[in-house]
Amino acid sequence: MFTIVVVLFLLILSLYIWKTYFPILSGRLPPGPAGLPVLGNLLSMIGNPPKVLAEWSQKYGRTISVHLGGRFMVVLHDPELAKNVLNDENTTGRDQNFFLADYFKRGGLVMAEGELWKEQRRFALSTLRNLGMGKSWLEDAILAEIAELTEVFRAQSGAPIEPRPHLVLSVSAVICALVFGERFERSDKKFLRLCRLFEENLSMTGQLFPVLAFPFLKYFPLTPMRGLWKRFCINLETVGEFCRSLIADHQAKRMQRTAADGTEEKDDFINGFLAEQAKQVEKHGSKMNFEDQQLLLSVLNLFAAGTETTTSTLLWGIIFMAQYPEIQQKVQKEIDDNIGRDRAIRLSDKGLLKYAEATILDVQRLASLAPLGVAHTNYQAMKIDGFDVPERSLININIYAMHRDGKVWKKPFELCPEHFLDSDGNIVLPKAFLPFGVGKRSCAGEALAKMELYLFFTNFLQIFTIEGDRETLPRHENVPVGFLRLPPAFKVRFIERR
Ligand code: HEM
Repeated sequence: MFTIVVVLFLLILSLYIWKTYFPILSGRLPPGPAGLPVLGNLLSMIGNPPKVLAEWSQKYGRTISVHLGGRFMVVLHDPELAKNVLNDENTTGRDQNFFLADYFKRGGLVMAEGELWKEQRRFALSTLRNLGMGKSWLEDAILAEIAELTEVFRAQSGAPIEPRPHLVLSVSAVICALVFGERFERSDKKFLRLCRLFEENLSMTGQLFPVLAFPFLKYFPLTPMRGLWKRFCINLETVGEFCRSLIADHQAKRMQRTAADGTEEKDDFINGFLAEQAKQVEKHGSKMNFEDQQLLLSVLNLFAAGTETTTSTLLWGIIFMAQYPEIQQKVQKEIDDNIGRDRAIRLSDKGLLKYAEATILDVQRLASLAPLGVAHTNYQAMKIDGFDVPERSLININIYAMHRDGKVWKKPFELCPEHFLDSDGNIVLPKAFLPFGVGKRSCAGEALAKMELYLFFTNFLQIFTIEGDRETLPRHENVPVGFLRLPPAFKVRFIERR
């Protein structure tokens, strides 16, 4: 019996090694470091995957491959190539082992694939555009949030404070206005909990990294991974319940409205979706792809994708301003010279604040918030950069590495707004700058995020000088890396400018 088990084990191991490494030896797959049997390159990547991958790319070339356990991953380091590859319809699949896959089951916006994804992305983009992207009510709503936040910081009279809990509420209020058509009070306990759960889940993604390689770890009893995974799922369920109740509210109001007739419908994403759902029923006799569950998952995606990303980019901006006071002063001087301090800065002022705009862009570069983007997969086997890539491989772009490429950036590891300014002081965007990803699945909220980053950043610096203890502030190269590069907790002083 023992001999049979050993023989079987050796057989499976040889099959695994043959399947995993033979194509590399025969030179068909993109090059990459040798890994351990079964684990592949997983152990070497724990800690700071984008940095390790960048180092391997120095050795093996712009397109490399690694093994995460049994998962084959191709990582692109060249921006032009990344653009071509991610514009190919074949690479618009998603990794159905990703942390969100169990809950989202190929629904929503981030995890959907094929025709469902195309239709739902088109719908979400056009609905968000119609609702407010680039419109003045949205700009006014963002400015109102900034004014309220300014009062919160002002009340601290220059004492050290942790900005995250305050900022996250302002940023999520903007997405709530678009998605739910309502604003939650800063003191609303349910809403505060919701924000905390999202943040907790994102910060858990680093520790859950091995689950991507070995999905069975989620179900392994009595292991830390199992405990983490359970918490991750419970958090998602709780947030899902909260959103479900808001959707039910909209549905109930919609029914009443039809009966009462004539009352105005709130303009928000949920109502836009419900209107489309009704159209589909009228046309096809069924909701088609506009099911209630699809609405819930899209709402969750918009809320999660729209809150932490923008909040954390702004937090990096705050940290960098405290670390680079000379750049902060230059931004403030530009604001004083061109706009003054008597009115809020608006989007139409953009042409007057090129140095500030370049500073925000370099904050995004250095932050590299989504360092490896979100993994894509290819539906069918394909060639990338002359190499064979088997079907359903993971395909990532190393945004972190591109944002630190010494051949493109004069000071790759420093904040340097001049990276984005030409000799006439006009904005230039190097091809290696891809904070929102690239191609057919690039960020669906880019327009909103740019609006928020500009308005929050410039209006803050018009009113406050940010100071902090340079020794204790987070360093951008030393953050624990999960799916996002979230800045660890820190305190700064917001000193009102006189
Ligand atoms: C500074 C802020 C933001 C950054 C850095 C960012 C970055 C990204 C990146 C890198 C991706 C992955 C692209 C890919 O798969 O290749 C993505 C996808 C996405 N983002 Fe953003 N994002 C930001 C803000 C937002 C906002 C405000 C929203 C919502 C309104 C949003 C909604 C989405 C959605 C729905 C997707 C999935 C798109 C798809 O799969 O088709 N993001 N984002």
